[in-house]
Amino acid sequence: MGLLVSFVKESPLPFPIKGAIRYENQALFHPKKYLLHMAKKIQGDGSFIFENTRFFDINEGKPNTVIVEGGQLKAKNIVIASNYPFGTRGAYFSRLFPKRSYALAAKLKGPVPRGMFITVEDPFNSIRHHTSKEEGDVIIIGGQNHRAGVGEDALEHYRKLQEYAFERFDIESILYRWSTHDSVSVDRVPYIGKLTSRSNNIFVATGFGGWGMTNATVSGKILSDLVLGKPNPWALLYSPSRMISAKAGQKFLLHNVQASISLLKGRFKKFPHLEVQSLSLGQAMIFELEGRKVGVFKDQQGKIHAVSTTCTHMGCTLNWNNAEESWDCPCHGSSFSCDGKLIHGPAAIDLEKIDVL
Ligand SMILES: Cc1cc2nc3c(=O)[nH]c(=O)nc-3n(C[C@H](O)[C@H](O)[C@H](O)COP(=O)(O)OP(=O)(O)OC[C@H]3O[C@@H](n4cnc5c(N)ncnc54)[C@H](O)[C@@H]3O)c2cc1C
Ligand code: FES
Repeated sequence: MGLLVSFVKESPLPFPIKGAIRYENQALFHPKKYLLHMAKKIQGDGSFIFENTRFFDINEGKPNTVIVEGGQLKAKNIVIASNYPFGTRGAYFSRLFPKRSYALAAKLKGPVPRGMFITVEDPFNSIRHHTSKEEGDVIIIGGQNHRAGVGEDALEHYRKLQEYAFERFDIESILYRWSTHDSVSVDRVPYIGKLTSRSNNIFVATGFGGWGMTNATVSGKILSDLVLGKPNPWALLYSPSRMISAKAGQKFLLHNVQASISLLKGRFKKFPHLEVQSLSLGQAMIFELEGRKVGVFKDQQGKIHAVSTTCTHMGCTLNWNNAEESWDCPCHGSSFSCDGKLIHGPAAIDLEKIDVL
């Protein structure tokens, strides 16, 4: 299995990183090894893990039924841990912000600082070391958080992160880069507990706000107590039905106003008539075709990928993400591949493919 978790307390700090702090006594997890190890423990004795099995809906009953691709699963208790809860139940889309963050891994010319660091500036960056068999010591730098799906030049965020990396470190080469979403609650405390105040056996864990390692562990502790009917001292604090402060209420309003503006903008914006030939390699555009909005992407090989750009969640018009080559929703952050395959909810179904040739 290799090293699952290492404690960074003992690691020497070869040099400070300008503008960054490091907390003592932290544990550095290898998330994949950690999850694989837990998955091994789950399998068996009445517990199963189904991989590559997308769920579409849940019918509440005794037992509950989960509608999955090609069938159904029955369970007394269900925990929805799909990041952004799908669909509209519990109206999580109105109280979770989709946040996109970026990371890159680089080889340094000199030694890699040991430990985990966070910068004090806004927007912040996080920095940590990683040692792999293939690459040896590398540095991982994260940051450039922003509301997902707003149609900015996503490559610009990678450029800025790279700029920061070259400014602060003696970089030999950039090895990898990636980005994805997380969701943030309006008061920045995750929602962990019953899906709605009326759901007895359906639970949710979401809104980890970029702090999944610790918040997932908190979720496990609270939800196992709730399922077993035991009291938990933290349940009320994290309850999805909790009262929120006036400040969080303002954020809630702002988020929903932004989502409504995006919905209206997309609905009334005029797009050019379909002209696939006008696209260059690697370019994507939205066109009008018989009153519908069609997103067309011409890949580097010249292949055309065309889909409806009406989000299957609540109908907002999607924006092109030029870094991930995906269609992203400005309202609640659903994300789809260039061929319309759902990557990230709250939408639960793929986009319609359109024949434009
Ligand atoms: C760049 C970046 C760096 C980060 N660094 C850190 C860090 O250093 N430390 C830290 O603690 N956290 C970090 N985080 C945050 C952490 O990754 C998240 O908080 C955490 O992964 C969220 O967990 P989740 O279970 O809510 O969602 P996810 O990890 O997204 O898991 C949800 C799962 O549900 C599946 N799913 C979704 N819909 C369906 C469906 N309909 N049917 C079946 N399956 C479905 C998805 O495929 C996915 O596997 C980082 C996040 C980013 C983006
Ligand atoms: S994610 Fe809600 S409308 Fe697209």
